[in-house]
Amino acid sequence: MTTHTSLNGTRVLVVGGARNLGAAISRAAADAGAHVVVGARDLDRAQALATQLPDAQAVHLDITDEASIVAAVAATGPLDHVVVLPTAHHNVPVTAVQRDGVLAALEAKVVGPLLLAKHLAPVMGEGGSLTLFSGVTAWRPAAPYTVMGVTNGAVQFLAAHLAVELAPLRVNAVSPGIIDSGAWDGLGDDAKHALLTGAAAANPVARAGRPQDVTDAVLWLMGAGFVTGETLHVEGGARLV
Ligand SMILES: NC(=O)c1ccc[n+]([C@@H]2O[C@H](COP(=O)([O-])OP(=O)(O)OC[C@H]3O[C@@H](n4cnc5c(N)ncnc54)[C@H](OP(=O)(O)O)[C@@H]3O)[C@@H](O)[C@H]2O)c1
Repeated sequence: MTTHTSLNGTRVLVVGGARNLGAAISRAAADAGAHVVVGARDLDRAQALATQLPDAQAVHLDITDEASIVAAVAATGPLDHVVVLPTAHHNVPVTAVQRDGVLAALEAKVVGPLLLAKHLAPVMGEGGSLTLFSGVTAWRPAAPYTVMGVTNGAVQFLAAHLAVELAPLRVNAVSPGIIDSGAWDGLGDDAKHALLTGAAAANPVARAGRPQDVTDAVLWLMGAGFVTGETLHVEGGARLV
C-alpha cells in the first residue's frame, strides 16, 4: 500500500487502541503524522502507550457503556478518523450458548459501534472516516464460532448502512484473517504456533497475517476518499478456499 501523507495533522481516535492490533494502529497513525487519541477501557494502559507516541492523548472509553462513549467523544474534541476494534468472544457450540455471552459479543461489535456512531455523527463530517472491525469467521462458518461469525457478519452490514445514513462521513470495515497480533499469545507457544501454521495452510497467500497487513489497510482506508460502505478483507484470500 502507499504512504499516508493525508494523515498529517489529522486527529485519529483508536477505540481499543491500547494493545495488540489497536496499539499497532495507534503507533502507525502516529508515525504517519496523526494526533492519536488512544481510547481504552483500561485508561492506565492507554496512557502508557500515549506517552510513547508524539502528540498523543489517552481517553477512557468502554464501548459497552453509552455514558462512557459520550464522555470520551466530548473529551477528545474534533476528530477526523475513528477506528473501532473491541470484541468479546463467546466461542462455544450452539448447544451451549448463553444469552449473556451472545449479547456481549453483539454489544462489543455491533451495538457499541452503533452508539459510538450516534455520538460521532454530529462532530465528524466531510473528509472523515469510521473504520469498524469484522473478521474472516463471518465468511467461513465453523463450530464453535457461530456467535463470532454472526457478529462479524453484522459488522459488514453496519458499515454499509452507516455509510449511507451518515454520509459524507465514510464508514468501512476491515475483516482480518488470523493475525499474529498478540491476542493469541495467551494460548502458549505450541498452541499459537499450531494456530498460525494452520491459518497459513488455509489461505492462498500461505502465511498468517502480520499486524502491518492490518495497519496498512486501516491507514489506507482513512485516506481513501472515494471508498465507503466497503468491507476490506485482509486475510490472504482465506474466505475463498
Ligand atoms: N487477531 C486476529 O487474528 C483477528 C482475526 C479476525 C478479526 N480480528 C478482529 O480484530 C480486532 C482486534 O483484534 P486483536 O487481535 O487486536 O485482539 P484484541 O486484543 O482482543 O482486540 C480487542 C481490543 O478491544 C479492546 N476492548 C475489548 N472490549 C472493550 C470495551 N468494552 N471497550 C473498549 N475497548 C474494548 C481490548 O482491550 P482490553 O480488553 O484491554 O480493554 C483490545 O484492545 C477485533 O475486533 C478482532 O475481532 C482479529
